[in-house]
Amino acid sequence: MSEERSAGAEPVGVGRSCGKVLLMGEHAVVYGHPAIAVGLDDGAHAKARWSSGRSSELAVASWGLAVEADGEDLLSQALASILERLAVRRSLSVELEVHLPVGVGLGSSAAIGVAAVRAIDDLTRERRSEAELGAAYQAWEAVFHGNPSGIDHTAAARGGTFVYRRRPEGALIEAIAPERGARLVMVVAAPGASTKTMVDGVRQRVQTEPQAAKDLASIGALVEETLPFVAAGDWARVGEAMNTNHALLRALGVSCPALDAAVDVARSAGALGAKLTGSGGGGCVVCLTHQGDEHLERVLNARFEGVLCRTLN
Ligand code: PMV
Repeated sequence: MSEERSAGAEPVGVGRSCGKVLLMGEHAVVYGHPAIAVGLDDGAHAKARWSSGRSSELAVASWGLAVEADGEDLLSQALASILERLAVRRSLSVELEVHLPVGVGLGSSAAIGVAAVRAIDDLTRERRSEAELGAAYQAWEAVFHGNPSGIDHTAAARGGTFVYRRRPEGALIEAIAPERGARLVMVVAAPGASTKTMVDGVRQRVQTEPQAAKDLASIGALVEETLPFVAAGDWARVGEAMNTNHALLRALGVSCPALDAAVDVARSAGALGAKLTGSGGGGCVVCLTHQGDEHLERVLNARFEGVLCRTLN
């Protein structure tokens, strides 16, 4: 029973989730290749309450955003899709706090969906299984892009560092516990592009250019080769692999001049590796450095707004 529910007369369901940064393997993961994700703690918090409104609603007060489940926009459709999945028949209202920069590849959309589903599940007290909740997370994500690999909502739901492999029968997920830590520095290099547009663009290339499928397979092989280095905390090797991963993403057409420039700044400032993260076209670059090395953070903070740091362990 949630703390809030026991404290007052009005039932309140609560839910939390993480953000994520993809260390390697984005886009290729959609096609079944492995990818490595690192959860960012404290992504989103949600509270759900029953309401007397005609339609259920979802609001992020700090963004001045409120939608209703019978609306036309994507967020409304996503809310409707989770209510449908969770078979909720009464109106409710979900309030969210989001602690992530939005739409820049750090998993804000999945974080909102997972926190909202958990809060609604808590409110309804139906003790749904993880698989049922997972289907609702997936339904939320599918509204924003038709073919999500599931890595974003998996990171939002479980956090930590893990390798993810999409499979028709259900994803294979393995936690990674590196022998020693490293520092990740995320920089917002440009406004984010739509994940759907970027994923569709890669699909079109796969259909028309044989090289694109080869590049995706090369990313998959690179991730596979790099996994032992992540586990061993051999960050110099991981950094090199991140640089190669960025070059392959560029070849796939998902980078942009602002992302390439931020990658160059980070490498010149001593990053072990730097690459775009998420669907690209804009958004964030993820940079790797040794734990305790603050030089990179200082240089990036002086050049960019929106620098976020986390220990990879
Ligand atoms: O842009 P984001 O943070 O939503 O990243 C999506 C990651 C992709 O691999 C491009 C798509 C997916 O579903 O895995």
